[in-house]
Amino acid sequence: MFVAIMGYGVVGSGVAALLKCNREIISRRTGKNETVDIKYILDLREFPGDENEKLIIHDFSIIENDPEVGIVVETMGGLHPAYEFVLACLKAGKSVATSNKELVAEKGCELLRVAAENNVNFMFEASVGGGIPIIRPITRCLSANEIYEVAGILNGTTNFILTKMFSENVSFESALAEAQKLGYAEKDPSADVDGIDALRKICILASLCFGNHVYPRGIHTEGIRNIKPEDVEYARQMDSVIKLIASASKDSSGKINILVSPAIIKNGGPMASTGGVFNAVLVRGNAVGDVVFYGRGAGDMPTASAVVADIIDCALHSDVTKRFGWDDEIPGQVAPYSGFTAPFYVRAQGNREITEKVFGNAAEFISAGAGELVFRTQPMPVSELEAKLSETGCKILSVIRITDY
Ligand code: HSE
Repeated sequence: MFVAIMGYGVVGSGVAALLKCNREIISRRTGKNETVDIKYILDLREFPGDENEKLIIHDFSIIENDPEVGIVVETMGGLHPAYEFVLACLKAGKSVATSNKELVAEKGCELLRVAAENNVNFMFEASVGGGIPIIRPITRCLSANEIYEVAGILNGTTNFILTKMFSENVSFESALAEAQKLGYAEKDPSADVDGIDALRKICILASLCFGNHVYPRGIHTEGIRNIKPEDVEYARQMDSVIKLIASASKDSSGKINILVSPAIIKNGGPMASTGGVFNAVLVRGNAVGDVVFYGRGAGDMPTASAVVADIIDCALHSDVTKRFGWDDEIPGQVAPYSGFTAPFYVRAQGNREITEKVFGNAAEFISAGAGELVFRTQPMPVSELEAKLSETGCKILSVIRITDY
């Protein structure tokens, strides 16, 4: 059977390499003993000297109009023109396997609907957690559960930076420079360090766990730019680390609390132990309890592992559309961030007596010297925390939620 790859970057070339390296195994697993051959690779660039140079095309309509191509891999990234191309492929009766989290976070529900209307499949295992199996586990293996929370370290670049800040006592800026040198972080690292990449991924997981599309817009998203060596030191004193955590949970009224922000996490658990570029995802179900998935969240071959598994699944299910239980958004389903409740770590400059008076028993001081106050609060909604902090008159240097993951 023939496939086409749209986007010959890190992941697209990984897909081509994996299809070649595991050719026999893959052909056995398609259930048809047919080889999976790449017919076209769509990219804007030329690749002189590349072993797949002859497969490179620049005109999408060649793929769209070729009935021999039954499965298309989308590894271009970005929303446009990936969305238009994927839509056209599905409408032309071709299944699509994508690693593009922006596309899935923005258009997942619609593309699944179009796939079903055209009796084909839209698959996106690689869009969250790279090579970590997480989409199928949530939608198949855990489908008997009511899942009430999903949370994780969903961005490898920021986890690398934070791990380095803890292990080598370096600043955010110098850890970021190291991540860029090693090729983990982009020249413009904002999608990673400002939490946008993790936001897209948690929106996909929340949509699957809770059954209705959760869009990225309007969701509280904080990155790691403001984490200072002082915060690292105080977290260490609390026998904890700081991780960029994306989390989504459903409260008793059915509202979804979803956010991306740094979090202080006690040492010893699976999240705190997830170091370097690794990712971890925690799923909490009412029957299964806590399940944690861990592995490589990025990179050519780990991500290709998930994309090629989707190709095989598409080949195995060429006559049936797989359902993901992903319906339209329910307006108002996301709870406002002001109601998000947690204990918080606060670092501030101000008067201890006034702060003690305002917080009463709700604040436990970790340190209070040289005009700098550091304390942790009892669980309280963000709105209450903000009101109290403003009453203290303190200059706020850092506020980080404390989690129990
Ligand atoms: N920039 C992402 C990361 C790549 O650092 O995790 C995978 O989505």
